[in-house]
Order: sequence, then C-alpha cells, then structure tokens
Amino acid sequence: MSKVATVEIEGKKIDLPLVVGTENEIALDITKLRGETGAITLDPGYKNTGSCESAITFLDGEKGILRYRGYSIEELAEKADFLEVAYLLIFGELPTETQLQKFNTDILDQSIVNEDMKTVLKGFPESAHPMGVLSSLTSALTAFNPKSVNVDSEEDMYKAIVKILAKFPVLAAWTLRKKNNQNLFNKDTNIGYVESLLKMMFQDDNKKNYKLNKTVVNALDKLLILHADHEQNCSTSTVRIVGSSHAGLFASISAGVSALWGPLHGGANQAVIEMLEEIKADGGDTSKFIAKAKDKDDPFRLMGFGHRVYKNFDPRAKIIKKAADEVLGQLGVEDPILEIAKGLEKAALEDQYFIDRKLYPNVDFYSGIIYRAMGIPTEMFTVMFAVGRLPGWIAQWREMRLRKEPIGRPRQVYIGETHRKFKDIANR
Ligand code: CMC
Repeated sequence: MSKVATVEIEGKKIDLPLVVGTENEIALDITKLRGETGAITLDPGYKNTGSCESAITFLDGEKGILRYRGYSIEELAEKADFLEVAYLLIFGELPTETQLQKFNTDILDQSIVNEDMKTVLKGFPESAHPMGVLSSLTSALTAFNPKSVNVDSEEDMYKAIVKILAKFPVLAAWTLRKKNNQNLFNKDTNIGYVESLLKMMFQDDNKKNYKLNKTVVNALDKLLILHADHEQNCSTSTVRIVGSSHAGLFASISAGVSALWGPLHGGANQAVIEMLEEIKADGGDTSKFIAKAKDKDDPFRLMGFGHRVYKNFDPRAKIIKKAADEVLGQLGVEDPILEIAKGLEKAALEDQYFIDRKLYPNVDFYSGIIYRAMGIPTEMFTVMFAVGRLPGWIAQWREMRLRKEPIGRPRQVYIGETHRKFKDIANR
C-alpha cells in the first residue's frame, strides 16, 4: 500500500504521497500542495528539498557513504580509471572493453578545437581567472557547434556528450597556457585522457620537456574520479536548471563552471591553499585561525571544512588525505603546509565548536596540496575540479532531459511593499 502523510493547513487536511527511494530515503511529494491548499513550502538553500528523482549518485551524509551507480567511491578510486567512471556515470553501467575503446576513440576523434576559439581566448587579459575563461570558452563552443542537440535521438545525444568530453580538457589546458603566454596545442591523440591533459598543460612551446610521471598521472586520475559526481550540489543543480529551459548542453555546462567557481563550492580548493599559506606566513599558529573561524563577528571560515550533507566524515577526504601522503612521498616533495593542514585538522576535530556543528575536512581540504605537489598552479585547482565534475554534469543533464523534467522555476514568499500609489517626482 502506498504511504501518505497528512498535512493540515488552516483547518484543511490533505494527504500527500510519500516517495521512498531504493535506499529507503523518504520524501514528501508536494506537487498538489499549492493547488489544493494555496500554500507553498519555504526552504532557503534547498536544505530539505529534493529537486528530482535520480539514479546516478547515492550519498548518505550521516554514514559517509558515496556511490556512483551503486559502486562505492573507495572501490572506483582504487580500481577504475576516469574514463570508465565517466562512462558509468553517464550511461549507467561499467563499459565492456569494446565499449570503452569506442568511447575513447570517439572522444579522440572530436578533440580538435576550432582555430577561431583561439581568437576568443586571445581577447582575455592575462589577469583573467582561469575559471572565468573556462566558463566563457565553454559557452563560446556553442557558436562553433550551432546545431542544437536532438535529445530524442540517442545518437545525437551521444555525439554532443563525446564532443564536450573531448574539447573541455583542451580548453582547460588552454586557460593555463594563456596565463603563461604559451602556444596552444590540441590533444595528443595516442595517449590517455589524463595523460593528454597533463601534456597539454605542461609541455613547452616546442612540445618537448614534459615527461609523464606515473605517480602524477595516477594521482590526477584518482582526484578526477573523486570529483566526478556528487548528486544535487550547487553546480549540478545549476546545470540541471539551465538545461531544463532546453538551453543546450554546452551552455548548461558553462553555467555549471561558473557555479563551481565560488569559494563555498569548488573554489574552496584554491581558498584552502591560500588560507594555509596565510597561516604559514603568520608564523603557523593554527589556534589563532581556529579562534577566528569560531568568532561570529569575523567573516573568516576554515576553508575545506564543513559540508552541507556530510555530517560525520567526507569519504573523499579520507582517500585524498592518504593519497596526499603517498604522492608527496613518491615525488619527494616536502611541503610545510601539509604539516600545517594536519595540525589544523587535529585542532579542529578536538574543538567543541567543530564537534557540535559536525564540521569535518571535506574533499577540498587536502586536494590542493596534491595539485601543488604535481606543479599545478593554485588558480588552476578549481579548473581541475571542473574537468573531474564534467561527467557528472553531463550525466545529470542527460538524465534530466531523458526524464522530460519540467522547467525549473521555484516560487517565493514575497516580503516587499504591498500595493502603493505612484508619486510624481516633485512629491517624493
Ligand atoms: N568554518 C567555521 N564555521 C563553519 C564552517 C567553517 N568552514 N562551516 C560551517 N560553519 C558553521 C556556520 O557558521 C554555522 O554555525 P552556526 O550554527 O553557529 O550559525 C554552522 O557551522 C552551519 O553552517 P552553514 O553555513 O549553515 O552550513 P551549510 O550547509 O549552509 O554550508 C558549507 C556548508 C560547505 C558551505 C560550509 O561548511 C562552508 O562554508 N565551508 C567552507 C567552504 C568549503 O570548504 N566548501 C567546500 C565544500 S566541499 C566541495 C564541494 O562539493 O563543493
């Protein structure tokens, strides 16, 4: 028998259906609430609002569980590679060898970025932040690929997906090369996705002097997997809502990049390193910064700490902390900010303020330290996050379009002036 919840508003009772997910999460289906009672729900920041039903990612914030299509993040990070995970997220199943090979070849075939895109890039000043440039370039791709996707055709959909997966890392690498005033290259066609991203970023203008290092490739692969999806977070919800107006895939992804950029979301990885540098320059006294984070009159927050849904631990942070030790050890990098980070984590985890609010290190707390050890400049950290999140954005956009979800359009409770008469300028 289907379950219902009874709601009474100003004496009027209605039964609202309860929706139960495959992991027994319960949601109150309010679709008929306004029609039958005139009331709406109010939930700033959507803290308790499910915006969709989705079969892509499951996470349990209390237990620290994260799974893509049913597979645990721990197992995927250890055993899969990034393209396999991208395929899994987007199409729902792990690819067979033939499917993966075809996927890889199709991506390679689409990896040339139109020469005119370089003219767009040249228009940006060197001071431009790589995330702003990446968002603009992704949007500009639409101009060079004007045919909109026919979402009713699996073939058309597949072509658009492969195209963005192919071109996005090229654009990401270009944002760095532009900053460094270097030549712009297209993808190397006979090496892997992650290897080619590193080469496009770091080889010199003569296409020499960049030797791929297995430790760096594996670590980046793992970081991209850990970032690949995280259900209805800020940037993903943005992608879904922009796509819900039937704006194209590239436009939706471009909006996702902008949403990710903020320091409360993906931009936290850059902010963490800047904070750790600040603590180091200040003499390394972590207790002073813990006190600042607790002071409600001080806007300072402990970057890389806290999460909207994880209230016990972030499973990605656990994997990344271990990887940070391994990568720095294997590369022979001694970074004093790793010790500051560990000291800060220990102090925060023992502090009542952080315990009471269930604030733990999140995915971004240690990722920047690994990126830094790989030689990736701080301003590029969030771009790396975006490359990792791309398959998740695509998967969520595809799901939203295939399920024919309606345009996203929340309501509001108006708290402004009631009707008043216009006064002409002489009488104001
Ligand atoms: N430092 C100090 N206090 C904090 C922090 C922090 N990093 N995060 C939350 N709090 C406090 C906050 O002041 C509030 O205290 P009180 O109840 O006394 O008013 C309480 O904890 C709850 O915080 P909130 O802001 O209501 O929680 P939220 O769910 O709206 O925000 C968050 C989640 C991630 C935006 C927030 O924890 C934060 O700003 N963290 C720092 C930025 C960061 O690391 N972001 C990356 C998130 S993980 C990557 C991703 O997926 O985006």
